[in-house]
Amino acid sequence: MARQLCSSIFKRPTTTFVFIILLCILGLYTFDSPLSHTKKMTQEPSKEIIPFYDTFLSLSSNYTVAEYLHSLTIHSHLAGTREGYQTAQYVKTHFENLGLETKVSEYKVLLSYPVHLSLTAHFSNLGTQEIGFPEVGFDVVRPYHAYSPSGMAVGMALYVNYGREEDYHVLEVAGVNASGCVVVVRRGGGMSRGGVVREAEVRGAVAVLTYTEGEYAKGVERGTVMKGLGDPLSPGWGSVVEGGERLKRGDKEVEDRFPKIPSMPISLETAQVILRSLEGPRGPQEWEDTLKNKGVRIGPGPTLLNFTYQGEEKSATIHDVFAVIRGSEEPDRYVLLGNHRDAWTFGAVDPNSGTAALLDVARRYAFLMRLGWRPRRTIILCSWDAEEFGMIGSTEWVEENIMNLGSRAVAYLNVDCAVQGPGLFVSTTPQLDDLLIDITKKVKDPDAGDKTIFEQWTARNKGINIQRLSGVDSDFAPFLQHIGVPSVDIYYGKDFPVYHSAFDSYDWMITHGDPLFHRHVAVAGLWGLLALRLAEDPILPFNYRSYALQLQEYTSSLSNMLEGRASITPIITSIKNLLAVAQEVGEEAKKLSVSGASIDTGVLMRRMLNDRLMLAERGLLDADGLQGNRWFKHLVYGPSSNYESKLGFFPSLADAMSHSTQTKRGNQPTIQHEIWRVARAIQRAADALKGDLN
Ligand SMILES: *[C@@H]1O[C@H](CO)[C@@H](O)[C@H](O)[C@H]1NC(C)=O
Ligand SMILES: *[C@@H]1O[C@H](CO)[C@@H](O)[C@H](O)[C@H]1NC(C)=O
Ligand SMILES: *[C@@H]1O[C@H](CO)[C@@H](O)[C@H](O)[C@H]1NC(C)=O
Repeated sequence: MARQLCSSIFKRPTTTFVFIILLCILGLYTFDSPLSHTKKMTQEPSKEIIPFYDTFLSLSSNYTVAEYLHSLTIHSHLAGTREGYQTAQYVKTHFENLGLETKVSEYKVLLSYPVHLSLTAHFSNLGTQEIGFPEVGFDVVRPYHAYSPSGMAVGMALYVNYGREEDYHVLEVAGVNASGCVVVVRRGGGMSRGGVVREAEVRGAVAVLTYTEGEYAKGVERGTVMKGLGDPLSPGWGSVVEGGERLKRGDKEVEDRFPKIPSMPISLETAQVILRSLEGPRGPQEWEDTLKNKGVRIGPGPTLLNFTYQGEEKSATIHDVFAVIRGSEEPDRYVLLGNHRDAWTFGAVDPNSGTAALLDVARRYAFLMRLGWRPRRTIILCSWDAEEFGMIGSTEWVEENIMNLGSRAVAYLNVDCAVQGPGLFVSTTPQLDDLLIDITKKVKDPDAGDKTIFEQWTARNKGINIQRLSGVDSDFAPFLQHIGVPSVDIYYGKDFPVYHSAFDSYDWMITHGDPLFHRHVAVAGLWGLLALRLAEDPILPFNYRSYALQLQEYTSSLSNMLEGRASITPIITSIKNLLAVAQEVGEEAKKLSVSGASIDTGVLMRRMLNDRLMLAERGLLDADGLQGNRWFKHLVYGPSSNYESKLGFFPSLADAMSHSTQTKRGNQPTIQHEIWRVARAIQRAADALKGDLN
């Protein structure tokens, strides 16, 4: 949609405009021409680029970012729809108007939409009523679960808490059988939406209704129930528009990714009506929820639910949009910033707060380019489509470009629901910890006067709190977990109450999420600066000592949990090796950054070291992948198939361990094998970092 908005940097409120002109003039005095920049860089690395960093930060504007968000969220823009396409056009036009090299990659993928839904309840005292039609009056897709099969189900209502295996055990003990029931599940407890439906299916339930605590009472959380990532018809390869291989519905590999019983999300309000009508035994105290169902009775019945869902599947064209800023010295090394664009509804938080930040980073980079700046390495801004259906846009692109990304991608920086409220939350692969911390010291906190983000963030958390990336909840998953690219995920605030509902709108953002758009500005600042450092530092700012130390921590929790069931010596040895190499590499980097080496050999030696730093993460991949799902190749970070796993790392090993706990069989050989696999992966990372043949 060619909305006539401020995509040109010259259209803005006058005061900002004057300020920018001033900066321009100052900028022209402080910056060298691109040519002299290039030459000098090789001797005196990062000094001259620093003014660009300051300029990047000073170009921030809460006005532009607010305008971007407003334009992006005027209409609901679900992937595969006309409005979805218009949003792609909007982003593309923005990049083009900035003079950036722009590219669109299209994929043809299987998407799923609702056609007809009905839910009636027969109450013992009130008779039959239609329930479950919330969010009326919004021009959005009605609440549904993408890839739910069509079907009709009639059964007694039964409350099953989070719908975990252990919850069904509780039911069994109480003598309640879920078979033939329509189960009502609250979201949470570490269960994925699809996982909940599959567990219910195994127990013989005929349908699943999910609701979300903490959500607006009338809001409903839409979502996908497909297992795994990417287009279901092209597992492992890019679903190019013309001529690629495509599986069919009915093929086992395809069918395995979809549940067999219908499901849909309901509002908190509807859930309340159903749950309060139930009789039967009381659930345990932990099953009481925010509905204030004290001593909640779980059923089954006497309320009888009648649920009909009819969906349709479409082969839709989706659009990933890119802006490319070619590197001047290492154009074949990529620093990627990614955010998805498609939304279940208006998407003001999820994901377009991130899109607005991406467009603002693009605006600022384009401005720097007018001042003569070119990054050393190539920067690519990525706007993904169809993330909500299962990370489809990013996954197809990664699968299609697996060789070039695998050998050239330096880092992937993800931002999804950029602004949900106050407070920084960040996840990284550990070699990026130091860089991230450094960047938080450079950007002002949006909620704390003159303090830096670092000061506010560490005060809140009483120290540094960096999460890791084992989840599969955004587009970093294909980059890190499939092809081993060091990754970051950044957001402000968490657990926003309008998640995937019609209330996730611009209006919510200006009343609750970020009324003055300073948090958006902070995210754009962190994100853009991280990418600048990764694209500019002559030696990649990766610290593998942090990785080794993190792995050491994992090993001690592992050792406690194993209780002597297997030997972790192989892992300990390989971590020791990684730590030693990381230390050597740290010294080498220091020498190279102040080296008196001639320009030519200096360039080559730095490039050699950088390649080792970039590829070390790839060492953690294993061709055989995770036992639970072989598409996931990373043996340190990835999803374990058992949600009860308390590890949060070494997913395949976690599965082997929890399996052995459950079956009470000594599964020692499997556990030991998984330990060896992890140990070999860490050794591969150490070898890649060292760069010498054994
Ligand atoms: C639950 O009921 C189904 C159908 O009647 C039956 O096949 C199944 O064995 C029962 N499960 C338990 C745990 O009793
Ligand atoms: C359930 O609902 C469908 C569609 O509204 C209706 O055709 C069917 O008769 C209902 N079944 C029962 C048992 O109430
Ligand atoms: C931008 O920030 C200023 C200063 O806090 C504020 O007065 C203004 O309303 C903000 N603009 C928007 C669009 O929120």
